[in-house]
Amino acid sequence: MNIQSKPSSSIDNVTNPDWWRGAVIYQIYPRSYQDSTGDGIGDLAGIAARIPYIASLGIDAIWISPFFTSPMKDFGYDVSDYCDVDPMFGSLSDFDHLVETAHAAGVRVLIDLVLSHTSDQHPWFKESRTDRENAKADWYVWADPKADGTPPNNWLSIFGGSAWQWNGERMQYFLHNFLTSQPDLNFHSMSVQNALLDVAQFWLERGVDGFRLDTINFYVHDKQLRSNPPLPQELRNATIAPQVNPYNHQEHIYDRNRPENLDFLRKLRAVMKPFGAAAVGEVGDAQKGLEIMGEYTAGDDLMHMCYAFEFLANKRPSALEIADVMGRVDRVAADGWPCWAFSNHDMMRHATRWEASPEILRLMTTLMMCLRGSACIYQGEELGLGEADVAYEDIQDPYGIEFWPEFKGRDGCRTPMVWKQDNQNGGFTEGKPWLPVASEHLPQSVSAQEADEQALIHHYRRAIAFRHAHKALSIGEHDEVKADGDIVYFQRVHKSETILCIFNMSGSATNFAVPEGNWNPIGDALGSAVISQLGNVALDPWQVCLAIKA
Ligand code: BGC
Ligand code: MG
Repeated sequence: MNIQSKPSSSIDNVTNPDWWRGAVIYQIYPRSYQDSTGDGIGDLAGIAARIPYIASLGIDAIWISPFFTSPMKDFGYDVSDYCDVDPMFGSLSDFDHLVETAHAAGVRVLIDLVLSHTSDQHPWFKESRTDRENAKADWYVWADPKADGTPPNNWLSIFGGSAWQWNGERMQYFLHNFLTSQPDLNFHSMSVQNALLDVAQFWLERGVDGFRLDTINFYVHDKQLRSNPPLPQELRNATIAPQVNPYNHQEHIYDRNRPENLDFLRKLRAVMKPFGAAAVGEVGDAQKGLEIMGEYTAGDDLMHMCYAFEFLANKRPSALEIADVMGRVDRVAADGWPCWAFSNHDMMRHATRWEASPEILRLMTTLMMCLRGSACIYQGEELGLGEADVAYEDIQDPYGIEFWPEFKGRDGCRTPMVWKQDNQNGGFTEGKPWLPVASEHLPQSVSAQEADEQALIHHYRRAIAFRHAHKALSIGEHDEVKADGDIVYFQRVHKSETILCIFNMSGSATNFAVPEGNWNPIGDALGSAVISQLGNVALDPWQVCLAIKA
């Protein structure tokens, strides 16, 4: 393995507070990365053991999905203690060891803070639900029923049904945007806001480099509890919730995206600032995601980056769609910073979702490394893993159980990472894995690909290294991203460095007259085509052309 670990001195966030711009982030779903205890569940010590591998990919930072104390109803996105590690994942000292190991290898650590809601097992909720007078009575969103006993408004839970759950102790409803066991915190209470800022402070002092912030546009709800209007049929696109989910039928203007969100984000940024830490906020909104990104990442007192859903859609984006998305970012988030992803722990893996051949996967990876913004790679995508087919008996995700079989939930992208080919559990665990290892993944395991120079994993390494070698790609500006038929092309510029990037997004060979300039070839290792003396380039199907201005 080609280990290119950077010296730990390269991590100095305070003197380099812009470290996150253009960073390549690797998302780890801790249950499924590496088990070190034989209980079939991945853990922090397992991640620490894999840091050399992660560093060998050239990753700048890992984002670890939640590992906090939790009853695991939503697999850790239901937190019952924000300041401790769930025993199944290890302990606080395992976490400290992980941070130390990552930093020594030049890899930063982002943790996933789920601040919008807690678990119903959190002591705050247990106290809040007892009566209407207790010290935490207003820490959650409680509301009286309508006169006929029905919920106070039409808000829906993403995971199915009403967003309101009845509680007989208080004789009131409480709000939950996700599971009934994930009650929403009341961000109109300053005590709640302060308690959450303390959580951020706790982890910053423990050495984290920043946060992935879960569902940041859901933090604040409309105080007047107004019902959402219906969304016209033609606008019901399905990137956030699957098509089968009636959650898509509303325009979510009152249950999320409230203007008061910005006040909390500003406070959170102020807590992070002395540490040089960075945050990527997840903005789930199928209609206005980019506008919200523009709003939340403008200036330097809100979020650093927002996680964009644009390339998580079902269909592989065409040249025109890529140009359209990047053009919209320029219009509505010019001053902001996107973080792009093709796959994550909530979506069908893109190799399957896009029915992508190895050539398409390579081209899209190169594209991601050339786009303005930071990039998130989801564990296993560097192996080209497809969505695993998980049988109904093995399904763990409550979201999948609710909408089965039209939507099978998120387990198919959460099956264990495959490290070894000659082991039925892919080297993930010595025990019984919490979700079955997909046998079709085994030939794509890390060990199999390390041994094959042609394998996708090496392309990921080269594409990431290429981005790191050129400031124009990691932090530069771009000219207008243009589409010409199936070609999408643009230039990235930083100081005296200008890089031309041309992508043939089709299965047909084509010729393209490149923009004027004296271009020298680069990107040979990424299979780049070479521009002729006459300023033309002949592109094979799914081929890229990369060139640098002389
Ligand atoms: C996370 C999901 C989680 C939900 C509720 C999301 O956006 O990525 O995995 O179920 O928030 O916390
Ligand atoms: Mg374990």
